[in-house]
Amino acid sequence: MDNPLIEARSVSAAYDSGMVLREISFRIMPGERVALVGANGAGKTSLLLTMVGILPLTSGTLCIGGIEFGAGLSARDPQNKRKLKELREQVSLVFQDPEDQLFMPSIYEDLAFGPRNMGLDEDAVRRRVDEILDRLGIGFLRNRSPLRLSGGEKRLAAIAAVLTMNPEILLFDEPTAFLDPKSRRNLMHLLQSLPHTQLIATHDLDFAAALCPRTILLLEGAVFAQRPSAELLRNQELMDQCNLEAL
Ligand SMILES: Nc1ncnc2c1ncn2[C@@H]1O[C@H](COP(=O)(O)OP(=O)(O)OP(=O)(O)O)[C@@H](O)[C@H]1O
Ligand SMILES: [Mg+2]
Repeated sequence: MDNPLIEARSVSAAYDSGMVLREISFRIMPGERVALVGANGAGKTSLLLTMVGILPLTSGTLCIGGIEFGAGLSARDPQNKRKLKELREQVSLVFQDPEDQLFMPSIYEDLAFGPRNMGLDEDAVRRRVDEILDRLGIGFLRNRSPLRLSGGEKRLAAIAAVLTMNPEILLFDEPTAFLDPKSRRNLMHLLQSLPHTQLIATHDLDFAAALCPRTILLLEGAVFAQRPSAELLRNQELMDQCNLEAL
């Protein structure tokens, strides 16, 4: 049997205001697509932020693509710069707010940023950017400023910017927020077609059920259940206990 690509062992984390994640443990196998659900404030975004080294752990261990880190890894500590760089080559997060992701003068520049940093020549960068724009159906945004896009357009551009980096592991925070039905369906087909290991935080339970064979359910910063999505998301009692509505 394969080893897990992602393993969280008793992960806890805190903001200045107090504890946010409590002893979270789970494993994700290579190529798995897993949904992360929970009510507002349950800790989904915070958990994703720990996995890219933005929110430091207070205790426990995360092992992601062979890179292991615990409470010592902080983005503020220059000694950990190399480890963080290695981590971010393996795992990318599509932020809940696309404006955290897009900062260049044009969408093309935003999408080219990652591959250029990885040392690809300009021809290869252009081919990769155009392929991703095409797959997401947003070629018309190529030369637009990210500041002047609709909510859904920004979301798709932010997803595209992560895909051009082509990490092994993709983390999504509310990927369907702001998307119209057709863009949502396109995104579903795209994520389904990707071989990457994916963890998808979402309130869109139909999306989770269609895309993710397994779901991790959070309540107040802790794992409340992790089970096959078909069973968990339809389990009225469990979902009620977590202030969610079952499918
Ligand atoms: N930067 C911050 N500083 C202090 N507390 C924070 C910060 N960000 C989030 N929190 C708190 O941490 C808890 C978990 O928030 P988080 O954003 O992880 O929840 P979530 O499950 O992603 O919720 P949502 O569904 O609303 O996106 C909440 O109680 C929230 O108020
Ligand atoms: Mg969130």
